[in-house]
Amino acid sequence: MYQQILTEVQQGTLVITINRPDKLNALNKEVIAELSQAIDELLAKNDLHSAVITGAGPKAFVAGADISEFPQLDAAAGAALAALGQEKVFSKIENATKPIVAAVNGFALGGGCELAMACHFRLASANAKFGQPEVNLGLIPGYGGTQRLVHLIGKGRATELLLTGNMLGAEEALRMGLVNHVTAPEELLPKALEILQLIHSKAPLAVQAILGLVNTATYQPAEGLAAEVAAFGALFDTADAKEGTTAFLEKRKAQFTGK
Ligand code: COA
Repeated sequence: MYQQILTEVQQGTLVITINRPDKLNALNKEVIAELSQAIDELLAKNDLHSAVITGAGPKAFVAGADISEFPQLDAAAGAALAALGQEKVFSKIENATKPIVAAVNGFALGGGCELAMACHFRLASANAKFGQPEVNLGLIPGYGGTQRLVHLIGKGRATELLLTGNMLGAEEALRMGLVNHVTAPEELLPKALEILQLIHSKAPLAVQAILGLVNTATYQPAEGLAAEVAAFGALFDTADAKEGTTAFLEKRKAQFTGK
C-alpha cells in the first residue's frame, strides 16, 4: 500500500523507513502523504504503542525536502507546501499521543533535521550528520526548524547553525542535546526499540499526559504548570493509577490496561 516508505511492526512499535535511498530519502509530496498516513495508522491501531522513523540505506536519514520540487514554486505555493507538511506530518508527530522516536542513520539535513526534531526524541548512529543548509539555497527551514532547533539546543547555537548552514556530527549533536544517544549503526534500531519497550511497560494514559505536557512546557510554559495540575489530578481517576500505586505498595509489578 505504501510506495515511498516501508512499515513493519516490531514488538508493538511501528518501524517506518523512508525508502528513497537513491535520492537520500528526500521528502517529496508522496513521502509526506505516506508519512501522514503511517502516523494516522499508529494513532488508530490499539496494538501499536509507538513508532520509530528512520531512513533506508547506510547514508541518509533524510537529506531534506526534495529540492527538485522547489524551482517552480512561488510565494503562495511555497507557503502552502510548508503549511501542508507541518499539518500533515511535523505537528502531527509532535502532538501524537504515542511516542515517536527518530533513529537518525546518516544525513539529517533541512527537512530531515526538522523531521528528527519533530519526533519526541532522537537517537543517532555514529555517522549521522545534522544541519539546516537552506540558507545555502537562499531559503530558510519551512517545517519548523527555526523554532524547534532553538528549543532543543538554545538560541545562540541554533542561530549559528541556521545562519552558516554548517553540519554537526553525531557526537557534537549529543553534546548539544540534539540527540539523546549515539550508537554504532547496527545498534541504532535495537537501541530505539529497547527504550520504547521500556516505555510500553508504563501506563499509556500517563505516557500520553507527559507527551502533551512536554509540548505545553515548550510552547506555553505559563499554562503548562496549570495543565500539569489538571492532568495529575485526572490520572487519579484511572484504573492504572490505582493499579500502579497498589502494586508498588504490594511489592509486585503493575499490570497496566490503559484504562
Ligand atoms: N532533494 C532532492 N534530491 C536530493 C536531495 C534533496 N534534498 N539530497 C540529495 N539528493 C539527490 C542528489 O541530487 C543525487 O541524485 P542523482 O544521483 O540523481 O544526481 C542523490 O540524491 C545523491 O546525492 P549526492 O549529492 O550525489 O550525494 P553526495 O554524497 O555527493 O552529497 C549531500 C550528500 C547530503 C551533502 C548532498 O546530497 C546535499 O547537499 N543534499 C542537499 C541537502 C540540502 O540542501 N537539504 C536541504 C533541502 S531544503
